[in-house]
Amino acid sequence: MSNPEKKPIVLSCIQPTSIPTLGNYFGALKNWKLMSKDNDCLFAVADLHALTVHPEPAKLRQQTLEMYSILLSIGLDPVKNIVFIQSHVPAHAELAWILNCYTQFGEASRMTQFKEKSIKHTDNVNVGLFDYPVLMAADILLYQANFVPVGADQKQHLEIARDIADRFNNIRGNTFTLPEPYIGKLGAKIMSLQDPTAKMSKSDTNPKASVSILDEPDVIMKKFKSAVTDSEAKVRYAEGKDGINNLMVIYSCCTGKSFEDIEDEFYGKGYGDFKECVAQAVIDELKPVKENFEKYISDKELLMKTAADGAEKALRLANRTLYKAKKKVGLLLDR
Ligand code: TRP
Repeated sequence: MSNPEKKPIVLSCIQPTSIPTLGNYFGALKNWKLMSKDNDCLFAVADLHALTVHPEPAKLRQQTLEMYSILLSIGLDPVKNIVFIQSHVPAHAELAWILNCYTQFGEASRMTQFKEKSIKHTDNVNVGLFDYPVLMAADILLYQANFVPVGADQKQHLEIARDIADRFNNIRGNTFTLPEPYIGKLGAKIMSLQDPTAKMSKSDTNPKASVSILDEPDVIMKKFKSAVTDSEAKVRYAEGKDGINNLMVIYSCCTGKSFEDIEDEFYGKGYGDFKECVAQAVIDELKPVKENFEKYISDKELLMKTAADGAEKALRLANRTLYKAKKKVGLLLDR
């Protein structure tokens, strides 16, 4: 990745969990794609982070390949951007160790996600879970990222990454760029189709509540047709119309139309028509993603080759920062 015009450096990672929903897609992935045009971007599958919950090994490998395929399928260009798998670049774990020594136990203990997860899974509160934000800081700081597109739940982790970088820079001299959170142009929060006051989540027990980005078109149509709305029968964005508001957000994300445009378009029409149009817009949006995914996931050789190329490019950049940090803390360099 040459940087002749000094474009901002953007980095984000996604854990290799199950197939993303429409919520993950419009909340995060589509933004990555939009940002990839005017920035120098790095995108990774955070497989090391996934280890904290002890996934079944074969399943983790499969999900890592699937998530990597999804990154390519949404249109991230692995030639123009660096698209890689976190564990392929050993510098992440190495820098994380150094940063551990510049992270206070107290500040790490204050992380909301750690507190929540340790209450929820009392049987497995491992040190990795505690250290998770430091590894995330390493992911970001290794590449001197200027911007990190993250959702609200990761904002605190980005703040601790800044704090760690700032502390290190103050003690050891300027080494790391302080990253800023990036709230995307879309950055939309997509709600459940069955309970539009709750966020769309793949772990929802009601399968009709969420749409996977790889759902078949007829499944998508059915899910939208049974989406919860209200009894006003008017397509307009307003308080108390959570279901319709959510469908309008989704339609707007797919078509780029404003809420006003959408209100005009569906003036005098019923919810049935509207739901069908929203579903069709989603189907059209996801069609290339699904087609690309099928192509990539069935070509493991190509995937592995692309991932290896991505890792090689990432490694080159990461090692520059890693060596700088090693030198600053007094490790005897081997070259
Ligand atoms: N923790 C993030 C999540 O679960 C994933 C992640 C890992 C990440 N490393 C990162 C996000 C670095 C942004 C930057 O969503």
